[in-house]
This record gives sequence, C-alpha cells and structure tokens, in this order.
Amino acid sequence: MSDKLALVTGTSSGIGTAVATELLKRGWTVVGIARRQAKFGERYQHLALDLSDASVAKKIEKEFGAKLGERAWERVGVVNNAAVGLSGRVQSLDVDELARSFVLNTAMPLWLMGLAIKKAKAPVRVVNVSSGAAVRPFPGLAAYCAAKAGLHLGGASVAAEDAPNLHILSYQPGVVDTEMQLSTRTKSLDDFPWGTTFRQYHAEGRLVSPDRPAADIVQFLEADGGERFTEKRLAA
Ligand SMILES: NC(=O)c1ccc[n+]([C@@H]2O[C@H](COP(=O)([O-])OP(=O)(O)OC[C@H]3O[C@@H](n4cnc5c(N)ncnc54)[C@H](OP(=O)(O)O)[C@@H]3O)[C@@H](O)[C@H]2O)c1
Repeated sequence: MSDKLALVTGTSSGIGTAVATELLKRGWTVVGIARRQAKFGERYQHLALDLSDASVAKKIEKEFGAKLGERAWERVGVVNNAAVGLSGRVQSLDVDELARSFVLNTAMPLWLMGLAIKKAKAPVRVVNVSSGAAVRPFPGLAAYCAAKAGLHLGGASVAAEDAPNLHILSYQPGVVDTEMQLSTRTKSLDDFPWGTTFRQYHAEGRLVSPDRPAADIVQFLEADGGERFTEKRLAA
C-alpha cells in the first residue's frame, strides 16, 4: 500500500469517479467531494458538500487537514475536477448563478491549491481539469469559458510562485461521455449553438470514456519531476 493522498472534487460521476476508482486501485487514499454521495469502500472518505458555496471551505480545511496530519504522506495530489457548464447568452445570465459558478469552477480550485500547499509536508501535484473552452470562445458559454480560462491561468500563476515541490497540470480531457456532455446535447440551440457539434460527436460515436482522461490524470499524479506548470490535451 502506498502512502499517497489525493483530494478529488466531483467524485460522484464522470471523470471524477474514474479518477477516484483508478487512484484507489493503485493504493492511494482519496478524499472526494461532491454534493451527492459516492462510495468506493476502504481508503475513501467522502465530503458531501456544495463547492459553489465558499462557506464549505472551513469544513474542507478541517477534514482534509486532519487527513493530511494522519501520517507522513509521501505525496499529495489535488484534482480540481468538479465544475458546472453554465450556459446561456450573457444577457440572460442570473448574477447569483453566475457568481456561484465562478466559486465552483475557479475560486474553490484556487483555494484548494493553496490549502494543499499550506498544509502538506509532502510534494504536491495538482491537476486542474480544463477545457477547450479555457482557450477559445464558445457563444453561449461565456460564463464557463471565463471561469475555465481563470482556472488555467490561475494554475500557471500558482506554479510561478515559490512553493517548493509543486507541479501543476492544466488538462483538457477532450469530449468525454459524462453527465456534463449529456447536458450540452440537451441545451437549447438558441442558447448554445455549438450544441449541434456535440450532438454530431455523439451520433458519430466519438465521445471517449472517462477512463481515458482518468488514466492521464493519474499518470501525472504518480510521475516524478517535470516542469512546474504543464498543459496537456487528451490525445485523440
Ligand atoms: N465531459 C466533457 O466532455 C468535458 C470536456 C471538457 C472539460 N470537462 C471538464 O471535466 C470535469 C468533469 O466533468 P464531467 O464531464 O465528468 O461531468 P459530470 O459527470 O457532470 O461530473 C461533474 C462532477 O462535479 C460535481 N459537481 C458539480 N457541481 C458541484 C457542486 N456545486 N459542488 C460539488 N460538486 C459539484 C458533480 O457532483 P454532484 O452533482 O454530486 O455535486 C460531479 O461529480 C469538469 O471540470 C468539466 O468542465 C468535461
């Protein structure tokens, strides 16, 4: 059994479930966060929290801090995976929903990086799950694009700070067969014209299994060294 601890957000479905499953299989201890429950058995602790509410930070600090203090971990991973694909043309966005999406998609991931850097005594490796939407515009996805762009550059900035033994990957998982993909196919095409492309991807059987990005994410968490900040897209 290895002495590796990971915090993974969004473990109740999709890529987060696949990442937690793979890490546990490889002997990691995992603390997972999502609103719904997720059960993976031994070495998994679930925190059923809403990450769009910044007040849950106290609970995370207490629980994850306690887990960090349990033993001399040889490495600590953070996978900032949970997100919401808030869509709609900008004039239709509700300000409270918009603000909550930024807490979930950008502010909490940045804060979680800081928490791990502050509390972990071991080397820290972070994967920020990004998106093509972080680097190119999609009409109807201004909120999601802005939040993912913020996470991408936020991660690069954190890596440029002076924390020792820190490596950060900004990872684009491709078009993955998950609940979030399903919701992109069912959005109104008036609100999100790109929905046509995602429906076509689905019809052509081009969605990838969550296991594919999970394998890349786990490989990075288990690797040694490398650049302090790297970017990667799932190879087609
Ligand atoms: N699927 C794709 O094609 C694709 C493409 C590019 C990027 N991504 C990125 O991949 C990541 C994972 O998405 P996915 O495709 O695996 O989607 P998913 O199956 O919908 O999973 C999203 C996860 O985030 C959690 N989550 C959502 N809102 C939350 C909240 N307020 N508080 C706590 N947890 C919350 C969900 O859990 P609860 O609902 O239980 O809270 C769920 O576990 C996201 O960052 C997404 O932007 C996905």
